[in-house]
Amino acid sequence: LSLPTIVQELAASGVPELPRQYVRRLDAAAVDMPEPIPAVDLTRLPTDADEAAKLRTALLTWGLFTVTGHGIEESLMENVMNASRGFFHQPPEEKQKCSNLKDGKHFQVEGYGSDQVKFQDQKMDWSDRLHLKVEPESERNFANWPSKPESFRDVLLEYAARSKVIKHTILAAMARILELDEDHFLSQFGDKAPVTVRINHYVPCARPDVVLGFKPHSDDGVLATLLVDNDLVALQVLRDGVWYNVPTTPNTILINIGDFMEIMSNGMLKSPVHRVVANVEKERTSLAMFYGLDADKVIEPASDQLKQPAHYKKHKTKDYMAGFYEHFARGTRVIDSIKIT
Ligand code: SIN
Ligand code: FE2
Repeated sequence: LSLPTIVQELAASGVPELPRQYVRRLDAAAVDMPEPIPAVDLTRLPTDADEAAKLRTALLTWGLFTVTGHGIEESLMENVMNASRGFFHQPPEEKQKCSNLKDGKHFQVEGYGSDQVKFQDQKMDWSDRLHLKVEPESERNFANWPSKPESFRDVLLEYAARSKVIKHTILAAMARILELDEDHFLSQFGDKAPVTVRINHYVPCARPDVVLGFKPHSDDGVLATLLVDNDLVALQVLRDGVWYNVPTTPNTILINIGDFMEIMSNGMLKSPVHRVVANVEKERTSLAMFYGLDADKVIEPASDQLKQPAHYKKHKTKDYMAGFYEHFARGTRVIDSIKIT
C-alpha cells in the first residue's frame, strides 16, 4: 500500500497534476435544501410538545438539526475552532508530533494524519484529520494530543464537558418520541463509553469537480455534534437518492444521529449518509464529536419495547467498530451488512 500523504502538504507543494488516488467520478451535483435545517431549543425540549414535534420531524426527514439553548458561549465555540484551525496552521514538524503513523504505517486511529489507506487503489479524501479520545478519562492520552496551540487542550476539554447537556437532553427526548423509557438510550452508556473528536481540515483544491473532502458515510456511535469555522457550503446529506447542501454557520452546533441509534431505534430513526465536497479557493475546518458505547456493550434494537421484529442483528460495539473503517474506505456501510431482511 502506498503511503498516505498529508493533503495540506501536497496542496502546498504545487504539484500541477492531481494524483490519481484522489480523482473520482462524482455522481449528481447537490441541490439546496428546500427548507432551513430545523433548530431545536434544548431549554424547551423536555417540556414543550411543539419542540419535541420539531425534533421528531427533523429526525424523520433529514436526520440533521441544529440546537440552541445549550448554554455554550459563542466565545468558547470560537476558541475551540481557532485552536483547531491553529493546529493545522502549524509547521509540519509540529503536527507530526501527534502523527498516527509509525514506521510509515497507520498504527492507530488516534492522532494526526490523512484518510486511512485500507486497500490498493482506494480513493482518498482531500482532507487531513486529527482524531482524539476525550472519554473515558482513563483512556485520555495527552501524549497523542497536540501541545500547541497552547490553549488547545483546555478549550477542547471545556467544550466537551459543556456539550454533555446536549447528549442528555437530546437522548431523553428521542426516547420519549419513540415512546420508550426516558432513560432507554442514556442507560446504554457505561463508565467506559467513549467520546471521540475528529477535527477535519479541508484545503482548497483546483479540481473540486473530481475530488471529495470526505467520502460518503454515516457516523458510527449514537450521536454526533459538528462545529465549523466558516459558512462555506461543503457538507451534503443524502435523502431519497438526492444530495442536498447543508447550510452551516460558525457557532452553531449541528447534530446528527449515528448508526448505533439507527440500530437501537430499530430503523425508526435513520443515520444520515453525508459527505463533504471540496472548494476551489477556501479552506475549512470542522470539529465532530462522537458519542460511542462501551466496547463490550451489545447494541441491539429495542424491538420488544417497540413491539416489532428486530430489523438489525445485535452486535458488540467492538465487533461493529472492527469493520467500520474497512467499510468506510470502500464507501460501504457496516449497518447495511447487519440488516435483517
Ligand atoms: C464529518 O462527517 O465528520 C465531516 C463533516 C464536515 O466536515 O462537515
Ligand atoms: Fe460524519
